[in-house]
Amino acid sequence: MKELIDKLAETQSLTKDEIVLLLDNRTALLSEYLFEKSREVREKYYGKDVYIRGLIEFTNYCKNDCFYCGIRKSNKNTCRYRLTPEEIIECCQMGYDLGFRTFVLQGGEDSEYSDMKIIELIWLIKEKYSDCALTLSVGERTYETYAAFLGAGADRYLLRHETANPTHYHRLHPPKMSCEERKKNLHNLKKLGFQTGAGFMVGSPWQTTEYIAEDLLFLKDLQPEMVGIGPFLPHHDTPFAKMEKGSLELTLFLLGMLRLLLPKVLLPATTALGSIAPDGRERGLLAGANVVMPNLSPKSVREKYLLYDDKLSTGEEAAESKDALEAKIKSIGYNIVMSRGDALR
Ligand code: 5AD
Repeated sequence: MKELIDKLAETQSLTKDEIVLLLDNRTALLSEYLFEKSREVREKYYGKDVYIRGLIEFTNYCKNDCFYCGIRKSNKNTCRYRLTPEEIIECCQMGYDLGFRTFVLQGGEDSEYSDMKIIELIWLIKEKYSDCALTLSVGERTYETYAAFLGAGADRYLLRHETANPTHYHRLHPPKMSCEERKKNLHNLKKLGFQTGAGFMVGSPWQTTEYIAEDLLFLKDLQPEMVGIGPFLPHHDTPFAKMEKGSLELTLFLLGMLRLLLPKVLLPATTALGSIAPDGRERGLLAGANVVMPNLSPKSVREKYLLYDDKLSTGEEAAESKDALEAKIKSIGYNIVMSRGDALR
C-alpha cells in the first residue's frame, strides 16, 4: 500500500480503484507513512503556518431539511436566531481587535437574509475592514447572485458538496435537493473566480469507500482552493439521531490524502474534528490541515447553532481563547499567522 501513497505524492492522483484499495487497507502504520508525506507537502507550500478564520454563524433559520443537520427546517426544537447587521459588525470588530483578518459569514439558507441583504452586509464589512478577506457560506444561490456577491466584494465561498454520488446524495437530503444542482453551483463559483471551498462529511450514513473515492475524484476535478471535511456526528432531533458517528481515524487519513491530491489546498481542521476527540484539531493539523476557524459569534447564540450533538463552542474553539489556541498549536510545532491567508494559486 505504501506504493499507492508514493504514487499519490508523486502524481497528485490515483484512480478510483486505487483510492478504494488504499482506503480499505489502511493501518495505523500506513497512516503514519501518509502523514509524513502530507506534512512534507504542507510544509513545502505553507511552512509551519496555520491560518486562522473568525467564524460568524449569523442565522440558524434554514429552509432546507437535510436529514443529518440539527438546524434543519423540521426541527421544531431549535431555538431560532438571526443576528442583525449591527450585531455582525460587533463580531467582526471583536475579531479584528483579536487580530483576525478573515471573517466567515456562515448561516442556514434563511429567506429573510435575501440576496440584497447579504450584499449590503458585504458592503458594510468590506468598507469597514478593507484589509480583511470575507468568506460567505450561505448555501445555494443563482449564478447571477453569486456574481453580485463577488461584485460587492466577497472573496471566498464555502459550499460543501456533501457527497458526490447522486444516489447517496438522495439518501441524505429531501427530494427537492439535487446533487447535480449542488455541483453546478460549485462550478459556477469557480467560474466566477471565487476562492471556492467544497467538502463532505466522513462516515455519513450509507457512505462507502467507493463513494469517498468519488468525492476525492470530484474534488480533484473541481480544483477548489479550500476543502472542508469532518466526521458525521448525529444530532438527537434529526432522522439520523441513531446513526453511527464517523471515524476520527478515517477523517485524518482523508486529510492526509487531500493534502497530497491538492497540495496547495487550504484545509481546515474543522469543528467536527475538534468535537469528536479532545486532540482532534491538533491531529488534523499533523495530518496535513493548515487552517483553524474559531467561533466569533456572540456567546448567547453559540449553543443554538447546533448542527450535531456536543458541537464544540468553548475553549480553543472560541475566538476569545485565541491565546490558548495559539499555545496548543505552538505545542505541536506550528504557528498561527494573522494574515488574510489567501489560497496559493
Ligand atoms: N455532522 C457533521 N457535520 C454536519 N454538517 C451538518 N450536519 C452535520 C452533522 N450532523 C456539516 C455539513 C454542512 C456543514 C456546515 O456542516 O457538511 O455543510
